[in-house]
Amino acid sequence: MECTLRCWLGLRMRCICVIQDLIQELRSWKEITMALRWRSSFSCNIKEIDFQHSRLFEISSKLNILGPICNRIDFEDEILEVINELKEYTLYHFDYEEKLMEKFNYEEYNEHLREHEVFLAKVKEIEKDRSNFNRPEMVRSITEFLIDWITAHILKTDMKYREFFNNRGIY
Ligand SMILES: [Fe+2]
Repeated sequence: MECTLRCWLGLRMRCICVIQDLIQELRSWKEITMALRWRSSFSCNIKEIDFQHSRLFEISSKLNILGPICNRIDFEDEILEVINELKEYTLYHFDYEEKLMEKFNYEEYNEHLREHEVFLAKVKEIEKDRSNFNRPEMVRSITEFLIDWITAHILKTDMKYREFFNNRGIY
């Protein structure tokens, strides 16, 4: 009887610790959760490109669900799937932008292309290292990197073509 009570109390304490850890982990993801949304201030005033950018945020936000608990539940395959989906969609999106830039002889095409290449190389690197996918702090830093890069690229680099394309009738 005494042993059962001790076991029950031990189990209860372990449950409390797991819940406390989880709350702590979720707190550390709170800021990222806010950043994982496309906002109207990110608009390049080109409907299709805005849609594609919002998809990049949508795909990345899946990491926000899997990341905080990836050391308790095996989500390696699911996280790899998200990274892969992001890579594939990024390839499609970059190709769309690059073809449009080529078509209209966009003056900053080469610099823009280089940024795309650097990002894709980094995503491929992330994809290779599965050992990070069961460590919440690593998945968090991957998510932070993705979202920081996408946001900065839209605001600093993509925004430069907004007027250029709008002036050529692309909305
Ligand atoms: Fe771009």
